[in-house]
Amino acid sequence: MRTIVKKAVEYIEQRATKAQRLAIVLGSGLGDLVDLVEDKVTIAYADIPGFPVSGVASHAGELVLGTIHGLDVALMAGRIHYYEDGNPAAMMLPLEVLWEMGCHTLLLTNAAGSVHESVPPASAALITDHINFSGLNPLIGDHRPPQFVDMGKAYDPELCERVRKAAKVSGAQLHEGVYVWYSGPSFETPAEINMVRKLGGDLVGMSTVPEVILGRKQGFRIAAVSLITNYAAGMRDETLSHEHTMREAERGAENMLKLFSALIRELKDNPPE
Ligand code: HPA
Repeated sequence: MRTIVKKAVEYIEQRATKAQRLAIVLGSGLGDLVDLVEDKVTIAYADIPGFPVSGVASHAGELVLGTIHGLDVALMAGRIHYYEDGNPAAMMLPLEVLWEMGCHTLLLTNAAGSVHESVPPASAALITDHINFSGLNPLIGDHRPPQFVDMGKAYDPELCERVRKAAKVSGAQLHEGVYVWYSGPSFETPAEINMVRKLGGDLVGMSTVPEVILGRKQGFRIAAVSLITNYAAGMRDETLSHEHTMREAERGAENMLKLFSALIRELKDNPPE
């Protein structure tokens, strides 16, 4: 274990002694999940040795430990993004820490744009695969084995099935599709979105992909769900902004909450390992 990771884990374990099982990264507008946590211990990222702090307004910047439906969880309320300081591996330390704390299943959430009329704002979409359109890779320079990481089943098929089942059981609405990572922080152009559609992409966003790459190297079983906050660039005569994203995320939050509540219940009743 890297020394910096050990220091962070020791700091956290002074405050919460239990081993966690499930890690969830909460993206823009998804912070409500924190309200489901019982026996909550909240630690500011700024207090954890080495932990990166996101400057994005609306990202709480807190690690929340506790239980949901009796399952030990670690929630990252907010994440750091590549576009904040140009480091594609910015989430490496948090993910290593979560792993060492005992989380081997990782659920990622994000806000994303949809390139399809049939997938409207405020809906949810299971990410079944991704296209790393940024061309960046967070593993460059990391020579620890395995250097070459298989991405054939990056989004764990069995875990994806659990997400579909949770949607069915809870009545939450759920689309699915391929997520395309653009670095941000500018939104895409209409021409770029036309290209995404032609390349087989369904969703566009500025996060998640580097976390999936880092997470697969670490060994996490991963699933990811997008909250659609807008039709992608050029599909509507509107100006995209963070405020727009937050407004639409709020409309979709209840559906996401229903989905994740059912999913956590399912993972508690039938642990993946
Ligand atoms: N593009 C990129 N990132 C996003 C979008 C989008 O349209 N919506 C929310 N995050």
